[in-house]
Amino acid sequence: MKIIDRAGKMKTKYLVGKHVVLGLISEKADMSYYVDWVNDQDTTRFMAVGRFPVTVQELRTYVRTYELNKNGLLLGIFLKKSKKHMGNISLTDIQWKDRHAEVGILIGDKRSRGRGYGTEAIRLVVEHAFGRLNLHKLYCGMIMGNEASHRAFLRIGFKVEGILRQHFYVDGSYVDCFRMGLLRDEYVRGGQRLKGGNDDHA
Ligand SMILES: CC(C)(COP(=O)(O)OP(=O)(O)OC[C@H]1O[C@@H](n2cnc3c(N)ncnc32)[C@H](O)[C@@H]1OP(=O)(O)O)[C@@H](O)C(=O)NCCC(=O)NCCS
Repeated sequence: MKIIDRAGKMKTKYLVGKHVVLGLISEKADMSYYVDWVNDQDTTRFMAVGRFPVTVQELRTYVRTYELNKNGLLLGIFLKKSKKHMGNISLTDIQWKDRHAEVGILIGDKRSRGRGYGTEAIRLVVEHAFGRLNLHKLYCGMIMGNEASHRAFLRIGFKVEGILRQHFYVDGSYVDCFRMGLLRDEYVRGGQRLKGGNDDHA
């Protein structure tokens, strides 16, 4: 089933926000722009990926793993208006007994950064994780210096839970890494409504 056409446009939406839509990505889709994102050293500066070149085949296998495995969720981030694919967001390592999972995000298209799309995509996934998957806690890893990511997760309500000292090597120095977490109760108490991810009527 082909879900994204060759121009990287969304065909199947899943979670709908005000400006962004999270939709399915298929291993058969055109990965040429996606492979550029994960090989761009500037984009991956604060990420574990990108230390070695990533191939299209590796990306297809990565996407396929999510299709087969329901302990994770990978969605494309699309602009609602143009349906352009600008990045991806994931829930990984869902632990059904402990009811927690890790959130990861990449806005690969540089022109789409700093416009609030990342924050909106995180909020949609948080709504889905708490409102539909019945998870209790979400967490993420954050490298010191990644201001946009730090502020986006803070804005949703994530709190710093701990610091891994000199855990990551960036631009010739060892830098600390934050661990941030969000409890479902905190999110709901923080005045956020839970409605299973969709914001289509907004
Ligand atoms: C991190 C990332 C997902 C953020 O998404 P985004 O759409 O660019 O961010 P938003 O526009 O939603 O902005 C989020 C917050 O960061 C701030 N911000 C945005 N770009 C910034 C920048 N370059 N420097 C400092 N702050 C920035 C915004 O003002 C906003 O803060 P506020 O809510 O307090 O006003 C995106 O920049 C990205 O994919 N970067 C490369 C990959 C990456 O680092 N992924 C995260 C790994 S943990």
